[in-house]
Amino acid sequence: MSSDPILKVEDVQVSFPVGGLGRRSAILGVAGVSFEVNRGETFALVGESGSGKTTLARAVNGLQEISAGAITFENQRIDELDRKAMKPVRKRMSMMFQDPVGSLSPRMTVGDLVTEPFRIHGIEGRNLREEADRLLTLVGLPTSFVSRFPHQLSGGQARRVGVARAIALDPALIIADEPTAGLDVSVQGEVLNLLNDLRERLGLAMVIITHNLHVVHHVADRTAVMYLGRFVEAGDTEQVFSAPQHPYTAALLSANPEPDPDKTHDRITLPAEVPSLLARPSGCEFHTRCPWAQSRCSVDAPERQVANGRAVACHFPLEPGARPPELAEKAAS
Ligand SMILES: Nc1ncnc2c1ncn2[C@@H]1O[C@H](COP(=O)(O)OP(=O)(O)O)[C@@H](O)[C@H]1O
Ligand SMILES: [Mg+2]
Repeated sequence: MSSDPILKVEDVQVSFPVGGLGRRSAILGVAGVSFEVNRGETFALVGESGSGKTTLARAVNGLQEISAGAITFENQRIDELDRKAMKPVRKRMSMMFQDPVGSLSPRMTVGDLVTEPFRIHGIEGRNLREEADRLLTLVGLPTSFVSRFPHQLSGGQARRVGVARAIALDPALIIADEPTAGLDVSVQGEVLNLLNDLRERLGLAMVIITHNLHVVHHVADRTAVMYLGRFVEAGDTEQVFSAPQHPYTAALLSANPEPDPDKTHDRITLPAEVPSLLARPSGCEFHTRCPWAQSRCSVDAPERQVANGRAVACHFPLEPGARPPELAEKAAS
């Protein structure tokens, strides 16, 4: 599958200093992550809030310094570039930030907002009114919207303006952080369809970040599941969804089942809270919440096992259809 990666992330770590005088230490918001995104591909990054998704996205986009690892985009190492050298890279790799309305300046019109990338990058010789019309049409908004202000837009329309900004300069890769957060379910589908449609028409690669696994089921080619700044499982989206191998993935899926009358769902409730990054659990870092944990799990950290394009960091990967021990007991008695 790694035929023509446009983006290559290798063992990336992001460290944040914490603590005051005399008690300085650091936490790893991203704790050694590797993945590749191929041209034209959609890669999904999922995990609970706080798992490091936004930090990783900001690192890839050069907004967050990394403390270890390497990031290569279109065959160029970009993690060592300074602000100025990073600017042309951002034309090719655009970022859609969390919060659709809040990320649009309230005093700018839609027309100014969607053409702002041309001004930021000092691109001249374009008829900006024509560009605005072209971009609004591409994202399915009426061209009459050029004179509207952000507060006159619905959540879904604001997201479309965000998408228009992201595609303005013809990027090869879009990183979309929670593109559907805060939207009604039907509007979420529309925004995802739009992104998918643009990917095909413009030949884009995409990284979609979400805390809701089901958002990406039908749009992502591959999915990686993050926990405490690491990938616990990654693979072909269809396989990850139909037969999760990591208990955390299984729990995320069961917590938010897709409406399917033919399936009965055993909800896997995760005990205990997400551990603090200041006190990472020993052994497998998921063992404090894992219904399947055994004594070995609190001692040995699992290696990432890779087979058939899937990677899982677990001593006891789940068989398809596995049920958590207490539910299996209930069913047997
Ligand atoms: N600037 C920062 N300083 C210190 N800690 C941070 C900073 N940014 C993020 N973090 C921490 O890094 C972890 C990952 O955060 P984030 O990337 O925002 O997660 P997600 O996007 O998955 O919700 C969290 O524990 C968060 O508190
Ligand atoms: Mg986030």
